[in-house]
Amino acid sequence: IGRDSVEVLGHSYPRDDFTNVTPKILAKVGRNLHNQPHHPLWLIKERIKAHFYSSYIGRWGNPLFSVHDNLSPVVTVEQNFDSLLIPPDHPSRKRGDNYYLNRSTMLRAHTSAHQRELVRSGLDAFLLAGDVYRRDEIDASHYPVFHQMEGVRLFSNHELFSEVRSGDLLSLFERGGRRTPGKQETHSLEAVKLLEFNLKQTLTRLVAQLFGEDVEIRWVDCYFPFTHPSFEMEVRFQGDWMEVLGCGVMEQEVLNSAGADNKLGWAFGLGLERLAMVLFGIPDIRLFWSQDERFIKQFRVQDIHQPIDFQPLSKYPPLHNDISFWLPDGAGEGEGFVDNDFYELVRSIGGDLVEKVTLVDEFTHPKTGRRSQCYRIIYRHMERTLTQQEVRLVHEQIERTAESELGVQGRY
Ligand code: PHE
Repeated sequence: IGRDSVEVLGHSYPRDDFTNVTPKILAKVGRNLHNQPHHPLWLIKERIKAHFYSSYIGRWGNPLFSVHDNLSPVVTVEQNFDSLLIPPDHPSRKRGDNYYLNRSTMLRAHTSAHQRELVRSGLDAFLLAGDVYRRDEIDASHYPVFHQMEGVRLFSNHELFSEVRSGDLLSLFERGGRRTPGKQETHSLEAVKLLEFNLKQTLTRLVAQLFGEDVEIRWVDCYFPFTHPSFEMEVRFQGDWMEVLGCGVMEQEVLNSAGADNKLGWAFGLGLERLAMVLFGIPDIRLFWSQDERFIKQFRVQDIHQPIDFQPLSKYPPLHNDISFWLPDGAGEGEGFVDNDFYELVRSIGGDLVEKVTLVDEFTHPKTGRRSQCYRIIYRHMERTLTQQEVRLVHEQIERTAESELGVQGRY
């Protein structure tokens, strides 16, 4: 961080009396855990995408919902708050609860910050995943960076009432209406009830897909400045009700300001960490940031729908063994042997015994020009202490298979 400005993702923002981002937080910007293949947050995102892609098909066989997961977390204060009708003195704007780059720019505190711009760009149905930032304590369930998935769906008169008999006689809006606990002043009651039903059904199906049909849920009335009516969905988990998402009928003013004044819409925002912790039994939110191979490798499945059997990290000791070999001629020039082939092979033979494989040494013979590599394989079991003997058997099999399948020549 410079003295007069803050650098984020290649842009420079002048500091002022509001600036409160720290180097530690800035180091997280750009990590994009939700875009890292096989990361548990990525896995949940992919499962949600797959559900929406297969369940909601557009008129021409296209997916109805478009997916956006690369919007910059740097937003204006106007996007994060004003565009969502959050009043100037609202407590959620507190400097103590947010990361400001300066008075006008911040790290988004929720993915709702992008609702207006995406609606304005003409989208009627979208999902949006991203990292969000809120100043918080760090413990097993709180971390100042987490991830959300936002969903928005808009309906024209025709789209909302097409399934209803004589639906062409109904309208989305009414004049001179009043705001009640159930609806906004400009909305017709029949439109809101259908929209609310569609919203709750969409989300109920989503969690049934994620958690299984037996999942118990309940709806709790709540308040957001940008939706009315608003609800929270809670999921029953180990005997307790746990809040997993907020949602509601979008405030018409938000839609009007985005140029969609002839439509009604619903929106939801869910926390990806919450879902992942429950779904996979991950006990500590800090683990999502772990670069520990023992954590990450447990989510490396072929098919995103494969069940995950997460084991908290092993307390048992590691054993390591090195393997050195001469590479076949021409290796590393696009043909023949590549490092990933070897990692693949080790994983396929060693399976769960292998925690990590690293290239520790590389060498080219000065006379012959032949190249040799040395890899270190760390063996560790999740549930017991491995013996030297069983590790040796696996290690020898890796040596033999590398020779026969990758054409390397062992130096053992
Ligand atoms: N943005 C809200 C939050 O972070 C969740 C939300 C999204 C609520 C969309 C309603 C509609 O808590």
